[in-house]
Amino acid sequence: MAIIMDGKALSNQIIENIKDKVSNLDTKPGLAVILVGEAPASAVYVKNKEKQALNAGFHSFIHKLPENTTKEELLSLIEKLNNDNDIDGILLQLPLPKRLSAYDFLDKIDPKKDVDGFHPINSGKLITGETPYALACTPKGIIRILDEYKIPISGKNAVIIGRSNIVGKPLSMLLLNRNATVTIAHSKTKNLPDITKNADILISATGKENMVTKDMVKNGAAVIDVGIIRDNSGKLRGDVDFDNVKEIAGHITPVPGGIGPMTIASLMENTLELYNLHKAKL
Ligand code: GUN
Repeated sequence: MAIIMDGKALSNQIIENIKDKVSNLDTKPGLAVILVGEAPASAVYVKNKEKQALNAGFHSFIHKLPENTTKEELLSLIEKLNNDNDIDGILLQLPLPKRLSAYDFLDKIDPKKDVDGFHPINSGKLITGETPYALACTPKGIIRILDEYKIPISGKNAVIIGRSNIVGKPLSMLLLNRNATVTIAHSKTKNLPDITKNADILISATGKENMVTKDMVKNGAAVIDVGIIRDNSGKLRGDVDFDNVKEIAGHITPVPGGIGPMTIASLMENTLELYNLHKAKL
């Protein structure tokens, strides 16, 4: 029976720690979140980000823009936030409405305010091994929880299912920098169970229910579930068939209460780090 990795408790602890640090500052870190359109899942994520930002003692600025926002309007808001001294971190919630391409905006955010680490300068730094101004929040949270539970990474086989720019790609670099042997699987991968069976650390980030079943998991593996799916009964579920996989995994993250809260904790850490960077410059 696997040890259940409690992302909620660890996230609370990280945010409490940030709150302590912030209470000793003479000004507050500022986080701006931009949400374009009405996607219900994104609206819930943004609300959670605001709640935790306020809890951490930050200024939180939510910019809700209508579905029909133009490219020029969004660029103009980003420029305004780049030039606003009260803002330390800018997050453009993804996905954007289909008409808009994230590539047109992510590289316009000041890399030193890029709290997601999605600017090409920051993703480039991650690839070359230089320290980015901020690391992508979900991958950072995954490494943090692996470390908390003392899961060895160096020399281990890590398999990531999902090659997104938000999770799979940056996570592969973080694991590689920690000397894991990394495989990225995706929708065109053949014989997926043969690959996942080799994983000491298995991360699934696909948003597909039952993507990972018991027969795909090595005995004792650490299984990290990044999926967030609302099933037919309205219950939140992950990619992993949790009830069966927990019987053979060594460690497993639940949904909810696993990687979701860790992502938010990383966002708060990044905001404080960027605040400190800006203050050091002034
Ligand atoms: N959508 C899903 N996850 C993320 C994230 O970590 N950052 C942003 N900006 N959008 C997301």
